[in-house]
Amino acid sequence: MRAVVQHGTGGPDVLEVEERPEPTRNPGEVLIRTEAIGVPFYETQMRAGLIPAGPAPAVFGHEAAGIVVEADDPSLPGKRVVTMSYTGGAYAEFVAASQYTLVPDAIPPVEAVAAAVPASMALALMDAADVKAGETVLVEAASGAIGGYLAQLAGQKGAHVVKTAGKGKADIDHDDPDWRQRVPDGIDVVFESIGGPRAGELTAKLAPHGRILAYGLLSGELPAFPVAGLIGRGLTLIGFGGPDAYGKRVSAVRAEALGLVADGTLTPVLDRTYPLADVAAAHARVESREGAGKVVLVP
Ligand SMILES: NC(=O)c1ccc[n+]([C@@H]2O[C@H](COP(=O)([O-])OP(=O)(O)OC[C@H]3O[C@@H](n4cnc5c(N)ncnc54)[C@H](OP(=O)(O)O)[C@@H]3O)[C@@H](O)[C@H]2O)c1
Repeated sequence: MRAVVQHGTGGPDVLEVEERPEPTRNPGEVLIRTEAIGVPFYETQMRAGLIPAGPAPAVFGHEAAGIVVEADDPSLPGKRVVTMSYTGGAYAEFVAASQYTLVPDAIPPVEAVAAAVPASMALALMDAADVKAGETVLVEAASGAIGGYLAQLAGQKGAHVVKTAGKGKADIDHDDPDWRQRVPDGIDVVFESIGGPRAGELTAKLAPHGRILAYGLLSGELPAFPVAGLIGRGLTLIGFGGPDAYGKRVSAVRAEALGLVADGTLTPVLDRTYPLADVAAAHARVESREGAGKVVLVP
């Protein structure tokens, strides 16, 4: 099969398209013929060596949608599923997966992969934040996939949504180093994905009993929050991430997210598709920060 192999860390050219053996499926896993592969921002950071990746050389990538070709359950072959692997292997024509979610017939594979992981993440974050109608919500990086779904979900809850993104893409330009000073006072919920030493400045913008959901490090640095800034006004800091954040609910939340796309409640947040062979261009597109939404590879 054709697969994208990471050779060390560096620019997009450390990703090479090669012939590799198809993965073998362990009991309990499904073997998927991929149709669409997601390229989230953190993968560009892994490729560049800014955040840890597995040992190289190895088939890169984490998110894929495709058709089941082998499974223990004889009713699964032929069905479309979406998967997210924490151990890589998704940038390929076939991937073996232990965790997967069925995709409703109405959703094509590109839209499925553009929605399943980021929209389920947004649903779980909304749940953890307990956003209520009338509250004011700050969505950082609303031009991204998770941010795009958060903005839709918070708006549908009846919240007032303040968004940050690159210049000209949202209310607040988050490339201005002082952007946090431009956030209005009285924010009830911050969805914090940029991180860095100045993230703590947002605590001053929170209303009493405000909540910060910290879940990303788009700047490349973990967020820093002064505990003293939380005490006194009953602020809550919630960290969110990794498989344990979902517990056993991950497939149920992914199915809920896909259901909301299928019934038109959520609009897929999609930037562009690239052929698998153009993986370097796809990574360059994500790093260019010229688009908005998910970049997807098509094998
Ligand atoms: N905790 C978890 O379990 C978990 C799971 C998945 C993802 N995440 C994290 O969630 C975050 C968002 O992921 P995503 O998949 O939604 O991303 P994405 O769709 O790939 O979008 C990337 C976004 O990052 C913004 N961005 C890039 N560099 C930035 C910088 N230096 N400062 C501020 N914004 C920057 C871009 O905004 P502009 O181009 O408009 O500037 C764009 O909105 C990432 O940090 C990722 O690691 C966490």
